[in-house]
Amino acid sequence: MLAGAAPAPLREPRDPAVRGRLPDPPPAGILRDVRDFPAFPGSAVSRGCPDPPGSAGFRDFMDFRDPADPPEVRRLDDFPVPGGGGAEDGLGHVPVMPAECLEALAVRPGGFYADVTLGGGGHSRLILDRLGAGGGLLCLDLDPEPLEAALGWAGDDPRVVLRRGSFADLPDHLSAAGFPPLDGILADLGASSRQMLSPARGLTFMSDGPLDMRLDPDGPVTAADLVNSLPETELADLVYRLGGERASRKLAAEIVRRRRAKPFATTLELAEAARRVVRPPRSGRRIHPATRLFLALRIAVNGELDALAALLSKARPALAPGGRLAVMSFHSLEDRMVKELFRPGPGDLPRLWDPLWKKPLVPGRDEELRNPRSRSAKLRAAARTGFEP
Ligand SMILES: C[S@@+](CC[C@H](N)C(=O)[O-])C[C@H]1O[C@@H](n2cnc3c(N)ncnc32)[C@H](O)[C@@H]1O
Repeated sequence: MLAGAAPAPLREPRDPAVRGRLPDPPPAGILRDVRDFPAFPGSAVSRGCPDPPGSAGFRDFMDFRDPADPPEVRRLDDFPVPGGGGAEDGLGHVPVMPAECLEALAVRPGGFYADVTLGGGGHSRLILDRLGAGGGLLCLDLDPEPLEAALGWAGDDPRVVLRRGSFADLPDHLSAAGFPPLDGILADLGASSRQMLSPARGLTFMSDGPLDMRLDPDGPVTAADLVNSLPETELADLVYRLGGERASRKLAAEIVRRRRAKPFATTLELAEAARRVVRPPRSGRRIHPATRLFLALRIAVNGELDALAALLSKARPALAPGGRLAVMSFHSLEDRMVKELFRPGPGDLPRLWDPLWKKPLVPGRDEELRNPRSRSAKLRAAARTGFEP
């Protein structure tokens, strides 16, 4: 049964004989109508966004690979992806590790799946290519723009249910969609290229924009709210814990000094404060001084770790036995949470998850070159065991 939802008329999706017990498809117009998604002001979709040289969007975000515990690298060529995995979505977002995600989900034609981070829809479309007429795909996003865009390729597809909301509330979305226990859940965490590169979203310090950073344009807190109101020590802790910024104390002091004179309103104002106090590392990869600050603020503004914790705690009851959970993370704290979830309990406790691979998969060199956003991705996946606690 789905956690937090009314008892749903569910059935075992692997048994075609009981397919008739499925509830009727969700009523069109309730779940699938773009008019249900409040429009994001200035939501013009930028097409074919280039990845600017030196962009801090993704390639400069934290590279958290632990040299002592190298992940498993698979070559994309090992997994041919019929249907064009890795292709740009027309919105500037290239799906990361498409073949590996498909391997993780092991999509069956009659299965039911949730892509809980729709974004440019790259992974969703690959899943859809493999679904037969009896299958189903729930696509979720906090941001109405990807949902609007998805209407173009999924608007008339009866297998697809588009929902706006957080994956923290996955059970509610599943019961609203009338889906049975799932065969697979995919989460590709963070922000899409389109969001990162849109100055209006305030996620990049490469161009000027409002200091916003909300992935959900109706979210309660902006980055400006945080930098202009958090006490100095809290700000420093946040930037250290979520961004790994060693100069967090100096940076917080500089921010507080500047905001006394004039509250921060734009991305470039904040980037300038970081540039004044954060020294580039003496060795290793050179990143923009504001990189870790912006990363920390984005995670805080969007409550990303809390949302992931909620998803991880609700994923198992949402899956059928044998169903797969695949999570692609770009931050060490996220990856650690997923790793912990899949770790067997102590002693003789029954296993709740069977990890597909011992180590996370990371993109091969060729994918990194083709798609810089993939650089710090780690993919972990596991199958839900049959144990019922
Ligand atoms: C990295 S993108 C996904 C890209 C997608 N897999 C593709 O290949 O096109 C992440 C997406 O997840 C969305 N997102 C982030 N946090 C979310 C949450 N808690 N619930 C639902 N969607 C979320 C973001 O708005 C963004 O569109």
